[in-house]
Amino acid sequence: MADYMESLTSDDKKYVWHPFTQMADWVNDDPVAPCIIDRARGNYLYDVRGKKYLDGVSSLWVTLHGHGKKEIDRAVRAQLKKVAHSTFLGLTHEPAIRLARELIGLAPAGLSRVFYSDNGSTAVEIALKMAYQYWQQKPARENRTTFLSLKNAYHGDTIGSVSVGGMDLFHVKFRPLLFKTIFAPSPYCYRCSFGGPGRCASQCVGEVERILAAHHKKIAAMVVEPMVQGAAGMLTMPPGYLKKIEKLCRACDVLLICDEVATGFGRTGKMFAVEHENVRPDLMCLAKGITGGYLPLAATLASEKIYRAFLGKHEEFKTFFHGHTYTANPLACAAALANLAIFKKEKVIAGLAPKVRHLKNELSSLGALPIVGEIRQIGLMAGIELVKDRKSRAEFAAKDKIAIRICAACRSGGIIIRPLGNVLVLMPPLSVTKAEISKMIATIRNAINRDFDLTFLLPGGEKARMRGKSSGEEADLVK
Ligand SMILES: Cc1ncc(COP(=O)(O)O)c(C=O)c1O
Repeated sequence: MADYMESLTSDDKKYVWHPFTQMADWVNDDPVAPCIIDRARGNYLYDVRGKKYLDGVSSLWVTLHGHGKKEIDRAVRAQLKKVAHSTFLGLTHEPAIRLARELIGLAPAGLSRVFYSDNGSTAVEIALKMAYQYWQQKPARENRTTFLSLKNAYHGDTIGSVSVGGMDLFHVKFRPLLFKTIFAPSPYCYRCSFGGPGRCASQCVGEVERILAAHHKKIAAMVVEPMVQGAAGMLTMPPGYLKKIEKLCRACDVLLICDEVATGFGRTGKMFAVEHENVRPDLMCLAKGITGGYLPLAATLASEKIYRAFLGKHEEFKTFFHGHTYTANPLACAAALANLAIFKKEKVIAGLAPKVRHLKNELSSLGALPIVGEIRQIGLMAGIELVKDRKSRAEFAAKDKIAIRICAACRSGGIIIRPLGNVLVLMPPLSVTKAEISKMIATIRNAINRDFDLTFLLPGGEKARMRGKSSGEEADLVK
């Protein structure tokens, strides 16, 4: 067994390039064995050594009803006996047809067509291309060739979705390669660029209004992550913000794209985040939770108005020339159908409110910790922003790796959560129990306290850390 783990570890370090990972750190520092996941059941992942971890980020925001959910397992197996894949170009199949009907039944009013793809970035890419082509094919053709997005936005990693991305860390290096996008300020109230909480006059909305008034004739669509900018660190929008954005877009005849890739399928406490403010997008992007975390699938939902602009004679070439090899993969569609059936059968959405309240109560117990700046939550999505100084809100430097350290300590404590900058991100599966939520928060509290003690109270924090490392006990804490 030890040999087996060693060979996996060395082959991983030798052959694999991990996403969003500084490979120098991974190869030099990280003990890979605790990161080799072997199996999963319910809300837990197990590494190759048999150690059990609560999946506190739903395997990157996808798992909804837990791992190894028998209904989804069964649906995928049944589909496997029929056909694993068949192209969706010029052919169709039952799981995709039934799933489209289900999605339209669940989606906000006005969305009537489903265009499939296979990940969140492509779902956004498709929405952008649809919006762009729509304006060219409207009877009164309009030259709307740019997009409006928000600072701190994250919509994926392909070039189109990066073009509307507003996170400098991920996006700025690619700017010369990207199409031009106008960015409005992010509604990041904790670090408000207009004077901050207590002095809010919705200036960030005012900026959107100003941009739209000045430029709407060239803006094809505004794209937003509804209610929360997830990847930027769970930046929750103030109440009413999204509704105001919708109204402004309507007033200027600018299309509204809501990217529900992260927020869709119950994460915010409702099936879709737009429901919190009764917002009706023209295009809506879905992925991640769509298959309950089983297989890659995405969908871009469009209004009938947009769909109709693409109809015409063959030789008019109004066709939407876009499609991926694995578009509407039948196994993934079967998983998605089973996933949606579980929502109905187990009344999942109705069961979320007590868990959401419990998470809120538990999170509030972290509020007094000396390095906790702000705690943000919507539904079962939460972010804990760590700060060097609570009063000035001074940020930790990247080299401090504060959130990375705390997440590593949590992993030793049997909880997998992820850092986003200086923010600890929690997004447990919808099937998480109250007891598991309490355990998760207790583990985070211990990790923060311990890190604080080591860094600030012991003389020479870094040395203290190293001492811990040599004793073995803190080995995971320091990585
Ligand atoms: C809001 C949003 N859009 C798009 C994406 C990209 O999805 P994917 O990683 O499946 O391409 C993400 C991923 O985190 C996301 O949070």
